[in-house]
Amino acid sequence: MEKKWWHNAVVYQIYPRSFMDSNGDGIGDINGIISKLDYLQQLGINLIWLSPVYRSPMDDNGYDISDYEDIAAEFGSMAQMESLIAQAKQRDIHILMDLVVNHTSDEHPWFIEALKSKDNPYRDYYIWRKPAADGGQPNDFHSYFGGSGWAFDEASGEYYLHQFSVRQPDLNWENPRVHGEVHAMMNRWLAKGIGGFRMDVIDLIGKEVDAQIMANGKNLHALIRQMNRATFGKGDAVTVGEAWSATPADALLYSGVEREELSMVFQFDHIKQFWDEHAGKWRSKPFELASFKAVIEKWQTALAHQGWNSLFWSNHDLPRAVSKFGDEGEFRVASAKMLATALHCLKGTPYIYQGEEIGMTNVRYETIDEYRDIESLNLYQERLAEGVSHEEMMQGIHANGRDNARTPMQWDDSPNAGFTTGTPWITVNPNYREINVAAALAEPDSILWHYQKLVALRKQYPVLVYGDFQPVLREHPQVFAWLRALDSERLLVINNFTAEHLTLDIPHQMQNWHGECLISNYAPRDRLAVSIELQPYESFALLIGR
Ligand code: NOJ
Repeated sequence: MEKKWWHNAVVYQIYPRSFMDSNGDGIGDINGIISKLDYLQQLGINLIWLSPVYRSPMDDNGYDISDYEDIAAEFGSMAQMESLIAQAKQRDIHILMDLVVNHTSDEHPWFIEALKSKDNPYRDYYIWRKPAADGGQPNDFHSYFGGSGWAFDEASGEYYLHQFSVRQPDLNWENPRVHGEVHAMMNRWLAKGIGGFRMDVIDLIGKEVDAQIMANGKNLHALIRQMNRATFGKGDAVTVGEAWSATPADALLYSGVEREELSMVFQFDHIKQFWDEHAGKWRSKPFELASFKAVIEKWQTALAHQGWNSLFWSNHDLPRAVSKFGDEGEFRVASAKMLATALHCLKGTPYIYQGEEIGMTNVRYETIDEYRDIESLNLYQERLAEGVSHEEMMQGIHANGRDNARTPMQWDDSPNAGFTTGTPWITVNPNYREINVAAALAEPDSILWHYQKLVALRKQYPVLVYGDFQPVLREHPQVFAWLRALDSERLLVINNFTAEHLTLDIPHQMQNWHGECLISNYAPRDRLAVSIELQPYESFALLIGR
C-alpha cells in the first residue's frame, strides 16, 4: 500500500459554535480555537476537521452556507481564519474545511438570483420541477429534516428540491457551471494552505431526481473524480467524504488509490446498527456487541489492502461515544479509555470528536425548548403530530439527538465550563464541574492522557497503522479482540465491552504470549496465561515478543 502522510495522523473535529468563545457572545469562534491550539498540539493531533465557519444564516448551524468565501461574523473574519491556518501549521496541524456543496443556504446569492425568474442564469444552479398533475409536489420525496423535500415558489409556480431544511436548496450537479464555481472556490481555499476537505453528504451530489435516486446516483463517482482532477488531486490534500449510503464496495470506489477520488469515506454502518428499522434514530436499540463486531470486522476486512477506513465513534451529528458504546456512570473513565484504545488500534485514520478525549457524555434536557438542533425540533413536531408520544420522542432525542454532541466544550469548573463569559447558545452539560479539561490535565491517569498516549503510539509503531487486522475470539459475546500483524510484528488488542468481571480463556496458540504492554486502562499486562481475569471495560494492547 502506498504510504501517505496522513495514514498515521489523528484527526480532531471541532464544532466551532461549541468549542471556545473568545468574546463573550455565547458562541464559540475562531479566536477561541486559536487560543486552544497549544492544547491540541499537546494532544498530538495533526489534522483538524473544522465544521463550517462560513457566512450563513445558521438555520442548520452553518451547514447552510450563504458565502463559501467569507466567514460568519459570529465566528470571526477571514483574517482570523487565515491566522488560524497559519498558527495551526506552525504546530504541524492542518485544517480540513467542511465542503458543503450538496446544497447552499437560501440566502446564497445564487439562490436569490435563481428565485428572480425562470430564465435567470442562476435558475439552473438548483433543481426545479413543475407541480404534479394534481397540482401537488412533484413526487413524495421527504426531507431528512421532516416534511416534504419540495418547496413551492409562488412566483414561478415551480417547486425546488431540498433534501435538508427548506432553507437548504439542493444544488444541481447536472449543471457544469455549478462544477466550475465549486472547483474554483475549492482551489482558492487550497491556495490559502488548508490540508484538505471533509465533504458533507457527498454521496448525494450524483442524485437522479426523477428516478428518486438520491444517494449513489450514476454520475457520483465521475463527479468526484472530476473534482479531484480539477482541484485537490494535484497536491497532497486529505479528503474525507461523508457517505451514509456507502457499502464496503462503494468505499473501495471512493478511496481506492488508482480511482483518483478521495482519501477515505466516513460511513455509518456501526451507528445505524442501533437505530430502529422504522423509527430510525428516534427509537434507539440497545448496544449489542455481536453485531458491532461483525460490522467493524466487515469494514476492516473489506478495506484491508485497498482503500482506507475512517475510524470514529462520534461526531457532531451523533450521541457521545461513552454514552452510546460505553458506560456514562460508574465505569465512565474505564469505558472511555477502552473505546479510545479500540478506536486507535484498528486500521484506518482515527477521528476524535471534541470532548471525547475527556469523556463528555450525552445531555438530557427535560423540555424540548432547551434543544437547538433543527432536526430534533422538526422531527419532534412531526412525530408528535403523527401520534408518537412526547415521552418516546424525548427518549429518542436523549439517546440519539444531535445536541448531545453540541453542548459546550467543558474546559474547567468555572461558570459555563469556561466556554464563555456570556450566556451560552445552548445549555452546558451540568456535569462540567466533574468532567472538564482542567481536571483531566491535572490527573495523570485521565482519559485525556490516555488519548494523548494513543495518538503518540500511532506515530511510533507502524504496526498500528499498517498492520493487518485479524479477528480473534470471534464468537466471544463480551470481548472484542484482534491482532494486528506487520512483517514479524504482532499486536494483540483485547477489549472487554461490558461492566462485568470476566474470566477470559486464552486460545491455545496464544497462551504463552508475552511482550510489551503499549497501553492499558488497568494495571499493564505483559503476558497471557491460560486464562485471564478481565476487569470491567478492561482493555490493553500487547506488542508480542519484541
Ligand atoms: C451532514 C452534516 O454532518 C449535518 O450536520 C448537516 O445537517 C447535514 N449534512 C446537511 O448539511
